[in-house]
Amino acid sequence: MTGTTSIEWTGGRLRYVDQTKLPDEVIFVETDDYRVVARSIKGLEIRGAPAIGVAAAFAVVLAASPAGAEQEHAKSVDEAITHLALTRPTAVNLFSSLKRMRACLSGPAGSGTLRDRLLIEAMAIRQEDIVACRRIADSGVTLIQPGSTLLTHCHTGALATGGGGTALFIITEAHQRGLVRRVYVGETRPLLQGSRLTAWELMQHGIEASLITDSTAGFLMKQGRVDAVLVGADRITANGDVANKIGTYSLAVLAAHHHIPFYVAAPVSTIDFDLRTGDQIPIEERDSREVTQVRGVRVAPEGVAVYAPAFDVTPNEFVTALVTNAGIIRPPFADALEKLNQSLGTAAIT
Ligand code: MRU
Repeated sequence: MTGTTSIEWTGGRLRYVDQTKLPDEVIFVETDDYRVVARSIKGLEIRGAPAIGVAAAFAVVLAASPAGAEQEHAKSVDEAITHLALTRPTAVNLFSSLKRMRACLSGPAGSGTLRDRLLIEAMAIRQEDIVACRRIADSGVTLIQPGSTLLTHCHTGALATGGGGTALFIITEAHQRGLVRRVYVGETRPLLQGSRLTAWELMQHGIEASLITDSTAGFLMKQGRVDAVLVGADRITANGDVANKIGTYSLAVLAAHHHIPFYVAAPVSTIDFDLRTGDQIPIEERDSREVTQVRGVRVAPEGVAVYAPAFDVTPNEFVTALVTNAGIIRPPFADALEKLNQSLGTAAIT
């Protein structure tokens, strides 16, 4: 969506677009029940690592309903956090948000009710994401050469964050500055975030976009028709390995083979400094029907075995640079990220 906040807190309820219905219908969900938000995260109605983190934070606020007693709130907040943590395992933003929300349980006395503290924290998480997206776009645009043809995967626009997006925000910003000739969009099987969301959003911005099947990327690069690849991330480990939508690894290997820069855009909140390498990232496996069916229509023999990881891990050696709200980070990533982690201990980067 352009120019809209994808996740809104309104009158004590959470309001968000059901991304599974796009681009055919723009349907908003409005709820005061954290379980509904949890179901939406699991079902990809809310998706994209930063958006999941923001939505989960507000869902925790919903668990502290205004009517209940303070004591009861703490119990239901604890339950909600446990429940929400089970929705999706790969995007670290979910867990870092929930950790921050849990810390509100032991907020200093006299600092308002628990619900007040939770709401302030959820608002802060969203605001930080808005600022982070802006900074990512401003930094990332400096990497785009005039007349560029770009390739992107999955969806990293406003709907996937609390702000303006990550990789796709760089692309729209670069387009505004007249730097982009064309954007190739991988359809992103199995759930088609590329065709349903990214292609649609680029068209809304009036950007020349061509949809390709995921398997077209190699041929496109071989023909010299891609100047840079830009993707987002669900979790980046301390050595710079990147978990992102399935198919990202293939693109990174292809880009390296064709000497095409491969940029990963993500807020610092997507970096998991506790994990040393990408091998430690839990990779979500999805229901086999997401592969055997396309929007409810079976496209594979009944009973066929399926392997359906939602994400893959791109080793850092294939990443040209990480574009973050703390600036552009280049190899060697382990050293640069270690420095960043240390600086986070002393100064907050939003
Ligand atoms: O399964 P999804 O649609 O939540 O996967 C999303 C991605 O892989 C995105 O690239 C990532 O979360 C970054 S969104 C700014």
